Amino acid sequence: MINYVRLSAALLTQPSLFFNRIRSPNNMPKSYKLLFVCLGNICRSPSAENIMNHLIEQAGMSEKISCDSAGTGGYHIGAAPDRRMTAAAERRGITLKGQARQFHKSDFEKFDLILAMDRDNYQDILSLDPGGKYQDKVKLMCDFATHHREKEVPDPYYGGTEGFDNVIDLLLDACEGLLHYVVKADA
Ligand code: 4NP
Repeated sequence: MINYVRLSAALLTQPSLFFNRIRSPNNMPKSYKLLFVCLGNICRSPSAENIMNHLIEQAGMSEKISCDSAGTGGYHIGAAPDRRMTAAAERRGITLKGQARQFHKSDFEKFDLILAMDRDNYQDILSLDPGGKYQDKVKLMCDFATHHREKEVPDPYYGGTEGFDNVIDLLLDACEGLLHYVVKADA
């Protein structure tokens, strides 16, 4: 069975083990824009954004892929990432930066891919696109995980430390899969 904590640690310290089969990013458009979306934009989506930025930097693709995050709700607009989420990310060597903002329908045009953390977020995003014009841009984050079976990134807000650690491990897996997808989709 895969030791996922070890795998994640190796991913962080030796990214070339994972990314040396990725083709050169030279053929990609100047910037492929990813938007991560959860409910509050203080736990899951800023974690996804910062983990993804970390992997993108390690893969030397910062000029080719950019990330942002947003919440479907507006309760935490302007807030920094949750301190429990920040501590969990630090335990995996990731620093969380950012300030919460709310998803807006103009984001459909601004981003190439919109990643929802759970099905509620997914439905709330799609409800802003009643004509379905942007439906293909919106995907569930967990569809990119290859080592975890969860279909949604669970909301850790009302739970304990373990839930926050689980979010980080799940997102490390999903972000790794997402990076491969983005590079392949653009090949
Ligand atoms: P997030 O977590 O959607 O991952 O940022 C939550 C943050 C705040 C609340 C719920 C979930 N809240 O109820 O305030």
